[in-house]
Amino acid sequence: MTEIAVVGGGIIGLAVGEELARAGHEVTVFERDALGEGCAAAAAAGMLAPAAEVDATPAPTTRLAVESHRRFPSWAERLSRASGIDVGFDQTGTVMVALDADDLRELVHHEEAQRRAGFETRRLSRDEVRALQPSVGPAVVGGLLLPHDWQVDPRRLLVALATALRSAGGTLREHAPVVGIERHDGAWLLRLAGGESAVARRVVIAAGAWSASVMPPGVPLPVRPVRGTVIRLGTPLESRAVVRTPRAYIVPREDSTLLGATVEERGWAREALAGGVFELLKEGRRAVPSVDDMPVAELAVGFRPGIRDGVPAIGALDEERTLIVAAGHYRKGIELAPLTADLVRASLEGRPDPLLAETDPRRFMKG
Ligand code: GLY
Repeated sequence: MTEIAVVGGGIIGLAVGEELARAGHEVTVFERDALGEGCAAAAAAGMLAPAAEVDATPAPTTRLAVESHRRFPSWAERLSRASGIDVGFDQTGTVMVALDADDLRELVHHEEAQRRAGFETRRLSRDEVRALQPSVGPAVVGGLLLPHDWQVDPRRLLVALATALRSAGGTLREHAPVVGIERHDGAWLLRLAGGESAVARRVVIAAGAWSASVMPPGVPLPVRPVRGTVIRLGTPLESRAVVRTPRAYIVPREDSTLLGATVEERGWAREALAGGVFELLKEGRRAVPSVDDMPVAELAVGFRPGIRDGVPAIGALDEERTLIVAAGHYRKGIELAPLTADLVRASLEGRPDPLLAETDPRRFMKG
């Protein structure tokens, strides 16, 4: 019997597992695929963007994002040190750009929302945008600078977390899909695909978009897959500043450029659709004309864990704190990983944190 089983080896499951192992708990993380193969983080752009997304995010989720953002630099640094892997954390900043007069008017609303929420934001002329990101083209007519919206490389982060988890004494079991859990002799029985099972004293469900299907019978968790397609282009931009238009984002890595993302309610269908890819390329080349000459390296498809009210469900479902949930992070799984790890640990160890009131998963059990 393991002390704590974490169901899900994506960014949230690994962040939780690593934090618990580091705290001295005996922990096993069960991942359905190989590390980084099928989870949402493998397709994520890794934007850490509490300000850019404030207008489109429920207020409690922004409060969580701000708290997690504050922890990110030291968390990324610690993981890089513990694993020996550079997680690609970059603080160059983000420019939200306008491509026409309508976009410029929309930027005014974004700026007001950002200021109201206390974020630093600054209006930019076309020339100032070009100075920060020389790859933008003549269609860009102005912008907003968000100096504290950063980026990280989620694929490197997954490997760093798995490495740090193992060096802290935790176990990662790959190709071990948990298909259901049930109470058994005062512990939890985990049923794995293929007929195998495992027993754990406590379980953390952190299976991203798959979380609802793992819940014990009769315990509701309104989490669903929201598909996103990202195009990986094989050429970097001239600076690391992230570019966001109202319809797409362009994230410059050291050696490549990500163009994203579609938001599609199509269940578990995995095939990227030509229409969505076309719209991304059209918008990407309007903002950054050199997109035309970049090789297409990959079409990455992921399933974001959408949740009914847009606020992640983090916390215990039972009085004894044997069943914990950390799911429904939707578009903010990377951003919220450090805070989620801390909140799950606090919840397991019975240390109340006021933020757990915002994320209580039992809210879906009332009616
Ligand atoms: N966080 C970016 C996205 O979900 O597309």
